Amino acid sequence: MALYNFNKSIDLFVRAAKKMPGGIYGHMSPALTVPGSFPYYAAGGKGSHYWDVDGNEFIDYICAYGPMVTGYNHPKVEEAVRNQRELGNCFNHPGEVMVELAEYITDLIPIADWVVFAKNGSDVTTWSLQVAREYTERPKVIMAKGTYHGAHAWCTPGHGGIIEEDRAHIDYFKFNDIESFYRVVEKNKGKIAAAILTPYNHPTFADQELPVDGWWSKVQKTCNEEGIVLILDDVRAGFRLDLRGSNEYFGFKPDMACYCKAIANGYPLSACVGNDKLKNAASKVFLTGSYWNSAEPMVAALANLKLMKETNAVAHMMDIGTRLGKGLSDLATSHGLRVKYSGPPTIPFLRFANEENFFRNQRFCTEVTRRGAFFHPSHNWFISAAHTDEDLEKTFKYADEAFAIVKKEFGS
Ligand SMILES: Cc1ncc(COP(=O)(O)O)c(C=O)c1O
Repeated sequence: MALYNFNKSIDLFVRAAKKMPGGIYGHMSPALTVPGSFPYYAAGGKGSHYWDVDGNEFIDYICAYGPMVTGYNHPKVEEAVRNQRELGNCFNHPGEVMVELAEYITDLIPIADWVVFAKNGSDVTTWSLQVAREYTERPKVIMAKGTYHGAHAWCTPGHGGIIEEDRAHIDYFKFNDIESFYRVVEKNKGKIAAAILTPYNHPTFADQELPVDGWWSKVQKTCNEEGIVLILDDVRAGFRLDLRGSNEYFGFKPDMACYCKAIANGYPLSACVGNDKLKNAASKVFLTGSYWNSAEPMVAALANLKLMKETNAVAHMMDIGTRLGKGLSDLATSHGLRVKYSGPPTIPFLRFANEENFFRNQRFCTEVTRRGAFFHPSHNWFISAAHTDEDLEKTFKYADEAFAIVKKEFGS
């Protein structure tokens, strides 16, 4: 089969780099894949597939880094957005849909007595800390070292433009290490406004780490006893483990939870929900943005969430992700290779078990991607409700060829 090339992507990137710092920002930067061996610019998409500017079509296992969940260009979501667009998107006031969406989300998510909306995950993770500080009248925030909570100064993994004071009130524990959690609580006793955590640990360039037994019950108990507001950052995992919030999947109750990515199938929307005790404090923390009341993303979210519920989308994604993991692991074994497939089935990650440097993974993912299924070598993958058995079959064929190349070049 003819392997894909990315000539137009590369040309566009060269043009972009002349006019834009870094050419492409952040997690979509070519530096995080294998420069020259992956697409840089997308042209369109349908269902579980998208195509790039060179005309290459991919079965997509990254799903726009999470937002695509019911399928690119889903007719039901698009119809809702089209209807709204005919009326207009951005006005002097929010539309009725904002109230409908607020009602829908607070019915859907058991811990939610209220909800607010913004655009990006970082908007709501940062805002939630302000609410916790307003409520507790305390300054400190604790988080797991290395966890991504967004691109704002208190949490960005970048170093550019950051000063010591930005993090003066942030302290760190290790995810899944309850003694380190107790130590950081003790060290900052009486001063901690919030503990902000993801439902499980999803680092880049590493295995995904599910919570160990007792982790969440101990974290929650300590927060309750110490008057610390427990915030769940469900921006990445939200609506892919349990439609009612990932805390329902792992069995605990945060005071607030932040959502984004899968909420509106690619339309720009994030949300923060919270319980009653925080509602008054939440009303005192200024929250706005030029587009935060726009109607189109809200109709998209309503259509998308209803669709996921009606079609039992999470169960389908779990099934696809489980079979993808089994199929890839079996294929690797058949080539005499060892892979580790980690994380929940709907947000998995694969690496080669006997290496730390990711060279095999880069080669493997490059070869699969150049055949027609987009696998990322360092960032966790995402499964969508649009993935099909046929997608899996084709993916296994590409993976079989790619494993053979890895075996030939690297040995076992
Ligand atoms: C766990 C988590 N929190 C927060 C964010 C920030 O979201 P956004 O990029 O929409 O600002 C992300 C984005 O990947 C995330 O994965």
